[in-house]
Amino acid sequence: MKENTKRRIKIRGTGFYVPDKILTNFDLEKMVDTSDEWIISRTGIKERRIASEDQATSDLAVEASRRALENAGLEVKDIDLIIVATSTPDTIFPSTACWVQKGLEADHIPAFDISVGCTGFLYGMILAEGLILNGTSKRILQIGGELLTKVTDWKDRNTCVPFGDAAAAAVLEEADDESGMLSYYWKADGKLGNLLYQPAGGTRIPATSQSVAQGLHYLKMKGNDVFKHAVKRMGEAALEALKLAGLNKEDVDYLIPHQANVRIIEATGRRLKLPPEKVYSNIHKYGNVSVASIPIGLHELWEEGQLKKGNIIVMDAFGAGFTWAAVAYRW
Ligand code: ACO
Repeated sequence: MKENTKRRIKIRGTGFYVPDKILTNFDLEKMVDTSDEWIISRTGIKERRIASEDQATSDLAVEASRRALENAGLEVKDIDLIIVATSTPDTIFPSTACWVQKGLEADHIPAFDISVGCTGFLYGMILAEGLILNGTSKRILQIGGELLTKVTDWKDRNTCVPFGDAAAAAVLEEADDESGMLSYYWKADGKLGNLLYQPAGGTRIPATSQSVAQGLHYLKMKGNDVFKHAVKRMGEAALEALKLAGLNKEDVDYLIPHQANVRIIEATGRRLKLPPEKVYSNIHKYGNVSVASIPIGLHELWEEGQLKKGNIIVMDAFGAGFTWAAVAYRW
């Protein structure tokens, strides 16, 4: 937890990449027993992007990073650390961040992954703040990349509907004005880990022909339980981050919530008593892209010219672990 202090980090540039292939709800109707109407009313999703067979998380992340660097007016040589937040790495090891470093030809700068589920982008920002303000790093490339559709069971209607693929990146550095990260609130509850997880492929259940035959390499989710915890925790996180920043609900110009389900997004907006136009949502076109959803939302708002200097933004997420976090940020 962090309270409003004088020194803070800011986002200098953002960028994102989504694969070209679109999977609509009508396509899903042909794959499992579902309907466009059910999916829209329960989730708000109309379509999602799907990576091609030869694309891995780092491929999306490299493209998103190039766009973020360009947006920041910087080159690869200007960054000195890469952090990738992902739950769907290219390989168990080395880290996806090292594959990204290779892809960007970013010679010898440190690179590592964090595994925090959908909350990873905010946990990454919090880590980056510590590293920048203590002088370890000057400029960090913070990436959120996820290819959940590669660990999705396309025969299970309970889990195959929400997810899409995407990566997004932000260049973080120390702020030289009043803008930047004002406060953060971050929490986890490992007791609830098995409500949303990928059982096999790690050391608990190593990948074997048996684990694959049992479908244990696929994402498992008790959707309704996750839903209830997400609503509760995202409300808590947003309010706590505001309190730590010395701000009130009325001060918020935009809430950028993790895009898991439109009903979770709306419920979180109601907790902050915000009108719908202040609650960013793009879930209809990308689905739940996990750790990439908040930086994509930020980038889109920025690109649309909606963010004005001095605006107060709350970024708010919940994900596998469980983990939850919120950041209050002055644009
Ligand atoms: N099409 C039609 N019917 C379906 C579908 C579908 N795709 N999926 C489930 N159903 C049925 C169920 O079988 C059930 O039927 P029954 O009542 O006859 O048993 C009924 O719909 C209700 O099922 P629920 O699971 O209660 O549906 P719910 O309204 O909760 O919606 C959903 C499911 C969309 C998954 C929702 O629970 C959700 O979005 N949960 C949150 C997920 C989330 O937040 N994840 C965040 C983190 S993600 C990360 O970290 C990677």
